[in-house]
Amino acid sequence: MFKRTHTCGELRKSNLGEAVSLNGWVNTVRLHGQVIFVDLRDRYGKTQIVFDADSFSGKFGAVKKLSMEDVLSIQGTVRDRAKSAANSRLETGEIEVLISDYTILNESAPLPFVLNDRENAEETLRLKYRYLELRMEELQRNILTRHNTYQVTRKFLSEHEFVEVETPVLMKSTPEGARDYLVPSRIHNGKFYALPQSPQIYKQILMISGYDRYFQIVKCFRDEDLRADRQPEFTQIDIEMSFVDEDDVFFHMEGLIRHIFKSVRNIDLPDPFPRLTYREAMETYGSDKPDLRYEMKLQDVKEFTDLSEFNTFKSAEKVKGLVVEGGAKYSRKIIEELIDHVKKYKAKGLAWMKSEDGALTSGISKFFSGELQQSMCEKLGLHNGDILFMIGDNPSVTLSALGHLRVEIARREALANTNEFNPLWVTEFPMFDYDEKAKRFIAMHHPFTAPRDEDVETLDSDPSNALSRGYDLTMNGCEIAGGSIRIHSPALQRKVFSLLGLSHGEAVEKFGFLVEALTYGAPPHGGIAFGFDRLVMLLAGTENIRDVIAFPKTTSATSIMDESPNSVSEAQLNELGIIIKETEE
Ligand code: AMO
Repeated sequence: MFKRTHTCGELRKSNLGEAVSLNGWVNTVRLHGQVIFVDLRDRYGKTQIVFDADSFSGKFGAVKKLSMEDVLSIQGTVRDRAKSAANSRLETGEIEVLISDYTILNESAPLPFVLNDRENAEETLRLKYRYLELRMEELQRNILTRHNTYQVTRKFLSEHEFVEVETPVLMKSTPEGARDYLVPSRIHNGKFYALPQSPQIYKQILMISGYDRYFQIVKCFRDEDLRADRQPEFTQIDIEMSFVDEDDVFFHMEGLIRHIFKSVRNIDLPDPFPRLTYREAMETYGSDKPDLRYEMKLQDVKEFTDLSEFNTFKSAEKVKGLVVEGGAKYSRKIIEELIDHVKKYKAKGLAWMKSEDGALTSGISKFFSGELQQSMCEKLGLHNGDILFMIGDNPSVTLSALGHLRVEIARREALANTNEFNPLWVTEFPMFDYDEKAKRFIAMHHPFTAPRDEDVETLDSDPSNALSRGYDLTMNGCEIAGGSIRIHSPALQRKVFSLLGLSHGEAVEKFGFLVEALTYGAPPHGGIAFGFDRLVMLLAGTENIRDVIAFPKTTSATSIMDESPNSVSEAQLNELGIIIKETEE
């Protein structure tokens, strides 16, 4: 091997005439009679290398057989490319290397898919050969964006007195919301560790221990249904701070996020970030993570539907509408598709009217008098060529279904500018959500989130209306972080456990150590965790979380490359005292 003197992204006109050695992969081969051009590639870039039968003394026939992804080591001289042959898309495009000698360090087997055509290769195939996919420019760029994000995060937090502390990966099973991944103990037969859904309890304990400001870039594990922005194991930037309220947390975290966007992408984010309460976000956008890159706000229309002859909405608790600019162009077929879309979110249907030639037409317009139509157009801002969609149902179905319709229409109409980044704090989440199936309250964030001071008194008598000190940071319709000011009083923590249906015994069994720790001088504290992968997705401009994780899992939580999860030997199971229950296929 000729030890490389430069990388494949390094040579410029200033190197003309130099004798150099390069190592890399064959990206492309172009045969031009007695001259062969190869693009040699490594992480840093591509360089055109030239085998010329006139000057190259080696075996020319062998060069012709070079194939994609062979690993080469070459020696040659840097020379100028004729102006007409220069490649402005390559940083090395003004030069090429005329080869004097080369060796093949390793040949590549025929490739299972074409490396520079990611779009057309099946994802399962790409994941099976992830090492090949990871050679692609797009993924290398994403992985480097991720790397840069780690570095600027650590530096910023460290400079602001946050201390990085590692917390255990094998811990006690203390369900936080999702299902735990369990790890059987060999030494304690029949007992299990759980993999952390997040280091929540540990970071609170670190505050009790006086570390004041903590952070960790940490893997979390959740056995839940996966989606485009969820993985069973994912990374958080986990943060906790003592003696703080919401404003302190927001101030420091905005600083961090502004710094990350500026350093990694040279993007300036607003200062400060806007805020909406959960209620405002739901009423205005039908979502607790609204995409603010486009308007399309939900509007109250019950006052109009109540005056109309359209009876379906008369008994509905909430009737809201969405005006889509230019939407009168929608065909029956498109409207049917949108109706199917809202049905996924429990809406029974979707009413609509078009605004054409100064009147409301088709759909349910015949139930609305001319006068009523006139006043709707004025008050809702309906103009010629627009369409009005309406849903009437209970508040949660109306808001969520219309919120999803808003997102779907923005997707179809490409309303969101991909170069715009709109952060938003969402605050004052309800403390509890009622789980109809389990017939009990569950924590909307997690059981350690404090209620607002003014709701502590009525927590017992009116839990469903209690608001919490929980907050999310959202950006472009994505929840990138969640956190809260915590409960630091043992009595209040016990009360919240009991409202969540945990008996005293269960609370002691599961969280006794935390409640006990709270009795030894716990400072008021609060924190947040950023979904690191989601943050990098935004920075990298992709909508698939797998694009920013080197070795991701599929939506069925498998790794196709190394075939996990897999079966283990009888001996391993015996050692753990585990018998696998046969299930019928
Ligand atoms: P939470 O559960 O909201 O809070 O998680 C914090 C952030 O982590 C990201 N996230 C995920 N990313 C990828 N795949 C997943 N399966 C996944 N689940 C969550 C989201 C989310 O906003 N301990 C608390 C934080 C705190 O209170 O300080 C917690 O984990 O971006």
